[in-house]
Amino acid sequence: MSSTSRASFGSKFGIIMAAAGSAVGLGNIWRFPIETGQNGGAAFILIYIIAIALLGVPLMVAEFFIGRHAHTNAAHAYKKLSSHPFWSNIGFIGVLGGSLILCYYVVVAGWVLKYMFLSLDGTLSTLFTPGDASGYESLFGNFVSSTWSPLVFMVLFVLMCHFAIAAGVRKGIEKLSKIFMPALFVILVVLVGFSLFAPGAQEGLSFLFHPDFSKLTTSSVLSAIAQAFYSLSLCMGCLCTYASYFGKDVNIIKSAVSISVIDTLVAIMAGLIIFPAVFSAGISPQSGPSLAFIALPGAFQQAFGAVPAVAYIVSVLFYALLVLAALTSAISLYEVPTAYIHETWHIRRRYAALVVTAVCLMLGTVCSLSMGVLGDLHIFGKSVFDFLDYFCTTIMMPLSGVFIAIFLGWVVKRDIFMDDVTNGCTLRTTPAAVVHWLLRWVAPVLLFAAFLGVLGVI
Ligand code: PHE
Repeated sequence: MSSTSRASFGSKFGIIMAAAGSAVGLGNIWRFPIETGQNGGAAFILIYIIAIALLGVPLMVAEFFIGRHAHTNAAHAYKKLSSHPFWSNIGFIGVLGGSLILCYYVVVAGWVLKYMFLSLDGTLSTLFTPGDASGYESLFGNFVSSTWSPLVFMVLFVLMCHFAIAAGVRKGIEKLSKIFMPALFVILVVLVGFSLFAPGAQEGLSFLFHPDFSKLTTSSVLSAIAQAFYSLSLCMGCLCTYASYFGKDVNIIKSAVSISVIDTLVAIMAGLIIFPAVFSAGISPQSGPSLAFIALPGAFQQAFGAVPAVAYIVSVLFYALLVLAALTSAISLYEVPTAYIHETWHIRRRYAALVVTAVCLMLGTVCSLSMGVLGDLHIFGKSVFDFLDYFCTTIMMPLSGVFIAIFLGWVVKRDIFMDDVTNGCTLRTTPAAVVHWLLRWVAPVLLFAAFLGVLGVI
């Protein structure tokens, strides 16, 4: 594949929307708010922002640099900067990790899609019994453990991603991101508006923002780092692959900062939606699927029940928000193996996407069934779904982060980095020098410590 015939993004706005679309996902909406609430509110947000500044932005710049410099998929990009057999292959970790995350991400995205329909057809409102979440609990439990229904929604979601990817970088990924991300932002603002007027808003806000430094422990620092990585979609090939479609005039550092700011703002806004509703409904805050599928449907009814139309609208908008967030993230994950297969096997993008879809449907089916009929199938004591999540986010992401930081800080010549990141010395050099210093001295140490910490070694 000659580099001139390679696809590219059409505008800087498109680039920011596509990369922010990758970053803004389910992690922002159901993980960040609760981590914040449980780890000392504003104190955690402070640590999170430090993690983004010291690790997140530098690693995002590193991935953008590698992708744009090499102008090829995430696995081959590293080969263009080093011929050493170890360093030239670290990109494979990202391609493998991104592909595996995709296979379970689409399962959860299928649930979100189903819940959007359940809120649209009014099921979520009719199930509401004040002070009793058992209706929602059994609805969710029965749904995820059943065989066909979650599969149908997963397939629907996968097909949406497939067609977006098959349409191409500019007509698929960029065009959709330019529509979906602003729509997501508008929905967020409307929902924050509603939520701040919920009766218990004050209590929710203080849960989220009250700075309690006594709750900051080593484990909350590790949570902040892990959350920053997951939320910014780092080290899983997505950002590197997207950057391979960037033009030479893109200011990589400025883009990385903008994307990180957007991602963090969305996460904080998600907290502004969730906690006022949860507290005004008198529910204890929790995280993950049980928050989104069991607690929140009731919380919205309870908090806005005085005007049923508002409860209905909030519920529909919230699940639409989750669908949009999941879709743009899944598309970025899809692009990683698609670009790899397209350029390695020299087959058309459309056919490469077909291969990804087939593999994703097969593995996704196993993940989905691991909540039900395949519940007894365990890998290292975990269900297939939990194992993939653990393996990708706890092992592969930080490990890949350590390697990328060392690669950029110590293996690649500093001059190549400086020249490329400053667009041939046309931009200021200080930001690039600071990022390089962080990649060389700070990121490897912090990330390795975090990796050992997560494994329970320190
Ligand atoms: N950043 C996405 C989220 O917050 C998840 C993701 C991780 C996407 C890694 C791509 C790569 O949900």
